[in-house]
Amino acid sequence: MSGDRWWHGAVLYHVYVRSWQDSDGDGYGDLRGIIARLDHLSWLGADGIWLSPTMPSPDQDWGYDVSDYLGVHPELGTLADLDELIAQAGRRGMRVLLDLVPNHTSSAHPWFADAVSGPGSAHRGYYVWAGPGPDGGPPNNWLDATGRPAWQLDQPSGQYYLHNYLAAQPDLNWWNPQVHREFREVLGFWFDRGVAGFRIDVAHGLYKDAELRDNPPEDSSGPLGGRYGLRQVYNANRPQVHEVYREWRSIAERYSPARLLLGETWTGDIGALAAFYGDDDELQLAFNFAFAYAALGGLPGAVAGTLAGLPAGACPVWTASNHDIGRFASRWCDGDPDRIRLALLLLLTLPGTTVLYYGDEIGMTDVAVPAERRRDAMTLTVPERWNRDRCRTPMQWDSTAGGGFSEAPPWLPPGDAAACNVAAQRDDPRSLLRLCRELIGLRRTWIGGDLGCRQLPAPEGAWRFAAGRVIVTANLTGAHLALPDAGEQAVLLSSLGPAEGPAVPGSLRPWEGIVTSPAAARP
Ligand code: GLC
Ligand code: MG
Repeated sequence: MSGDRWWHGAVLYHVYVRSWQDSDGDGYGDLRGIIARLDHLSWLGADGIWLSPTMPSPDQDWGYDVSDYLGVHPELGTLADLDELIAQAGRRGMRVLLDLVPNHTSSAHPWFADAVSGPGSAHRGYYVWAGPGPDGGPPNNWLDATGRPAWQLDQPSGQYYLHNYLAAQPDLNWWNPQVHREFREVLGFWFDRGVAGFRIDVAHGLYKDAELRDNPPEDSSGPLGGRYGLRQVYNANRPQVHEVYREWRSIAERYSPARLLLGETWTGDIGALAAFYGDDDELQLAFNFAFAYAALGGLPGAVAGTLAGLPAGACPVWTASNHDIGRFASRWCDGDPDRIRLALLLLLTLPGTTVLYYGDEIGMTDVAVPAERRRDAMTLTVPERWNRDRCRTPMQWDSTAGGGFSEAPPWLPPGDAAACNVAAQRDDPRSLLRLCRELIGLRRTWIGGDLGCRQLPAPEGAWRFAAGRVIVTANLTGAHLALPDAGEQAVLLSSLGPAEGPAVPGSLRPWEGIVTSPAAARP
């Protein structure tokens, strides 16, 4: 995978830094912890690592409120640690992506500290300010991520500033050319240091309507259906954002290999998602949340819709878990081991880029975090299903009391590490972890950077597609399924492993997925 577009066919591994490995006994994961565990990722076969925010932050939103774009959070390590992490990952053939947050800063950022000092300050125009609306309240009807008005009154000036997330996360004003200049510098700083690219936070954001028009009502519900009954037409999703990505892409292309831009493109609309790829001159990768939010049985439709909607040559992104939306082992599979095995088989055989979230490889499920242990300010006051602490709990490395994560009490309560951990699964050839590793190897050998994916006819309840030199067939039901033409193919791998007892020829077991090769069947 040394080509210029190394992410075609790649497996990226998303490390939520605070929860992966603690090296200094403070109960929080950190960069030296990641360095110590890199062998796990090279053994698994990852091509790259995306680190959740590493920059200095007051942590109102755990790093997504940045107070210095050119530094490293002291609780996580130093710039030297990050350099070493990049070098050590590189030695193992893995690239490192950082998380960039361009939609907003922390209210503790020096730009904002200056901006609130008064309307005439040098950085006032870095943020979005407006006077009260006609009724003397907030300037318009926009709501923040907690469902409250997205405007905070600045008493001394009588103006409001915009915050699409917490009040401690003031939105940047992308109509201001200075903001563009600042971020060009940020990109160059990290790209020059050997960072392979960025996951771009709130990539559909950045620009807001210049006239600050009210958002219209939204009828559709669900996670991708607007925000608290409003369609996010004017507070985000503005067409001007594409100019930013065209410019960033040209910066990324100055490096060899090109630096990678992977957007958090929060949309359920395939046309809008496709637009982020531009004419192969914007983001190279865009997260596909419609896929993540489909049910297991809805994946064939979600994949078909994606493939039909993306521009020719665009590389789709398959991811099913993250630090906001929760873990697929719970959302797609209800914790059922066979379904988890099938889901991993599908994630790792779909052509494109697959992003695994830490713990996906051992089937970690969401953890019920008691109210008094919750740490995510954004979701403390919203319905329980939106709680994000459940998917940010410590990595389960072994069955010791701390799960191998930390000597100290961890910042979030661990899941059941005795029942689900890396050490035990490494020793068990039939484990999910070993299946995951085998699938990544198979992906590399049989699919690689070939983006072609053809949906094939399959019996009711089954899903079949051709990828690279293999054919994948999945039983999306809990019943045995007859598969009349299975005999013509050589089975390279089954998600359930070899059948115990007599196999029923020409059939798939409940929730079984198989990878077959027409080529291997030929003499
Ligand atoms: C993104 C991040 C999320 C964060 C939000 C605001 O959605 O993934 O964790 O709270 O942006 O930065
Ligand atoms: Mg630590």
